[in-house]
Amino acid sequence: MKSIYIHIPYCRSRCTYCSFVSGAPHETMRLYVRALVSEIKDRLTGGEISSIYVGGGTPSVLYRGALTEIFDTVRSRCKVAGDAEITVECNPDSVTADFVDELVKTGVNRVSIGLQTDNDALLKFVNRPHDKSGFLKAYTLLSPIENKSVDLMLGLPMQTKDDLLSSLDLVTGLGAPHISLYALKVEEGTVLYQSGFTADDDFEAELYDLAFEYLRAKGYDRYEVSNFCKDGKLSKHNYGYWDLIDYYGFGVSAHSYLDGYRIANTDNVSKYIGGNYEAERVDARDDRAEEYIMLSLRTSKGLDLNRLTGYGVDLLRTKRKEIDEFVKNGFLTLSNGFLRLTDGAFYVMNGIIASLI
Ligand SMILES: C[S@@+](CC[C@H](N)C(=O)[O-])C[C@H]1O[C@@H](n2cnc3c(N)ncnc32)[C@H](O)[C@@H]1O
Ligand code: SF4
Repeated sequence: MKSIYIHIPYCRSRCTYCSFVSGAPHETMRLYVRALVSEIKDRLTGGEISSIYVGGGTPSVLYRGALTEIFDTVRSRCKVAGDAEITVECNPDSVTADFVDELVKTGVNRVSIGLQTDNDALLKFVNRPHDKSGFLKAYTLLSPIENKSVDLMLGLPMQTKDDLLSSLDLVTGLGAPHISLYALKVEEGTVLYQSGFTADDDFEAELYDLAFEYLRAKGYDRYEVSNFCKDGKLSKHNYGYWDLIDYYGFGVSAHSYLDGYRIANTDNVSKYIGGNYEAERVDARDDRAEEYIMLSLRTSKGLDLNRLTGYGVDLLRTKRKEIDEFVKNGFLTLSNGFLRLTDGAFYVMNGIIASLI
């Protein structure tokens, strides 16, 4: 089975830290949806789909009827499995009763809501178009869709430990089954980068630690570095990426991974609307092993050494010395053919992964 990612490059305003393709002028929305539908018709020719994720940008700013058209097109070109996970990203300020109604009617069964922090002053400072009360209103409107995820960020300018705890209290108090916690990345070209702000890695690590302990005490499992869930409600779609399943990426700047090829769509909205969606196709067969090592070690399931051998790398032969050393120092465990990072190893994860590649 394969999965589908669909990118929507529209937002109400631009957050100061944002580096996604998200600032397309709203007047182009109908043309964009038309181009998207045409790309899906061109490239999706049968097969079964296990998950669909509509992200952005802000899919909730789309005009009513757009998601219906997009999902109808997908369903007309392939079989969407009966138990498929279908997620749509929402920003609190654009969630309306009509929008929720369309989600339900189109079979959406999971939403991911971007809160980031519940501190109104911080939200304003990074130019988010919503506040805490807007988030609460959106969360209530979205009650017909039980499977909710909330995004929070670590290391926002001026964010304190108390801010983070307050956001975690709010979200866990609502009973959100899934929480994603992202450490702020200050990417070149963003307003935040231009302002001279730099991320404080040590403080972000402290915030992460605090959140990890807090969420563990509330019964959330960390199943991937940035992702926590209760009652097994992990994101099937994201798990598919970490498990290297094939996926289609439709829309501007979307990436696909299909039959050993990595395909990057153009990140130019005008070009995309003009029908020129594909930008680059690269044979990805050679880097499957590397990719698998990088992605699987981020998950609690860990790295299946047998599977890696299938990709042509016998890690117990090529990296035995390094593995033994990491196990001895308490960074890795090796059991039943799986290598896993220990709880204490997440800060040094990048170094460990680099030395196993
Ligand atoms: C694809 S984004 C878009 C979601 C939605 N538009 C929003 O901002 O709420 C998904 C998530 O990535 C995270 N994110 C965005 N920019 C980030 C950055 N510069 N560093 C770390 N996380 C970021 C935010 O938590 C955001 O909710
Ligand atoms: S709402 Fe999300 S996608 Fe839009 S500008 Fe902000 S971070 Fe970027």
